Amino acid sequence: MSGDTILNVAPIEIAQSRERRPVTAARETVFDIRNLSVSYGKTPAVKDVSFEIYRNMVTAIIGPSGCGKSTFIRTLNRMNDLVPSAKVEGDVLYHGQDLYASRVDPVQVRRKIGMVFQRPNPFPKSIFDNVAWGLRVLGMKDNLKDRVQHALEQAALWDDVRHRLKKSALGLSGGQQQRLCIARALAVEPEVLLMDEPASSLDPIATSRIEDLMHTLKRDYTIVIVTHNMQQAARVADLTAFFSLDVLPDGARTGLLVEYDATEKIFTQPSDKRTEDYVTGRFG
Ligand SMILES: Nc1ncnc2c1ncn2[C@@H]1O[C@H](COP(=O)(O)OP(=O)(O)OP(=O)(O)O)[C@@H](O)[C@H]1O
Ligand SMILES: [Mg+2]
Repeated sequence: MSGDTILNVAPIEIAQSRERRPVTAARETVFDIRNLSVSYGKTPAVKDVSFEIYRNMVTAIIGPSGCGKSTFIRTLNRMNDLVPSAKVEGDVLYHGQDLYASRVDPVQVRRKIGMVFQRPNPFPKSIFDNVAWGLRVLGMKDNLKDRVQHALEQAALWDDVRHRLKKSALGLSGGQQQRLCIARALAVEPEVLLMDEPASSLDPIATSRIEDLMHTLKRDYTIVIVTHNMQQAARVADLTAFFSLDVLPDGARTGLLVEYDATEKIFTQPSDKRTEDYVTGRFG
C-alpha cells in the first residue's frame, strides 16, 4: 500500500483563507509547456504534457510513484541535461523564450530557475559558505554578507544561525538544512523555485515551517512543488496538476498529465475519474 492511500483516509482539508490566489485573476504565464515528452533511451517517462505555470503562484505536481513528476520538474530548469540518456521533445517556453534553444546557457537557466531537492544536500562547508557558494561562482561578490543574510532571512533561518555562520552546515537539523538549501537557492536571486518533495524527509514541525515559507515566498517567487502528500498540495498550492501512468499501444507505461486546475477544484470536484480515484485514495 502506498503512503498516499494512508494519507487519504482522512478527508483532504482545503485551506480556504490562506492567501490562495484567485486563479481566475489576471495571471502572467512564466512557463508555457507544449507537447512535452521525455524518454530515457527508448523508454518514455512522460508524454505530451501541455500546460502553463503562472507567476507568483504555487503550482503542485501530484501523482503516483513513477508517473514522471521528478522528470517533468527537471525539464523546467534543464536538469535533465545532466542525464545522458534523457531525451526531451516538445517545447518549454520561459517567458515566451525556448528554454532549449541552442544559444541558451543552462547555467544561466539554473540561476533564474533554482531547485531544492528531496533530501537536504548542504555542502560540507560553513553555513555562510553554503549560501555564498552560488554568489561566488557567479561573481556576485559585492555586498556578500548582506546577500547571505537576506537569503537566510527569506528562508526563515537567520535567527537560528546568525551566531554560528562559521560553523559547519552539517551540524544543523534536517529541517534547518533544508531551509539552508532554500537560502542557497534564493541567494542568487532566481525568479522560480522548483521543489521536488522538499519536505518528505522532514518531521511535521519542520514540514509545517517549509509550508509557511512557501506561502511567504510566493509573493516574490513562482514556486513549483512536487509532492506525494496530498494534504500538503491542498495546503500550499494555488493550482495542482495531476499526473498519472498510462499504457501506450506498444505496452510501455508512461506518465501523462490528466488534469490541471485550481487546487480546490482538483480536490473537491475533479473533472476526470482518474483524478477523483487518486485524490480520494481509491487508487494505489
Ligand atoms: N535517470 C534515469 N534513468 C532512467 N530512467 C529514469 C531516470 N529517472 C527516472 N527514470 C524513470 O522514469 C520514470 C519516471 O520517473 P520519475 O522519477 O520522474 O517519477 P516520479 O513521479 O518522480 O516518481 P516518485 O514519486 O517515485 O519520485 C520511471 O519509470 C523511472 O524509472
Ligand atoms: Mg520523484
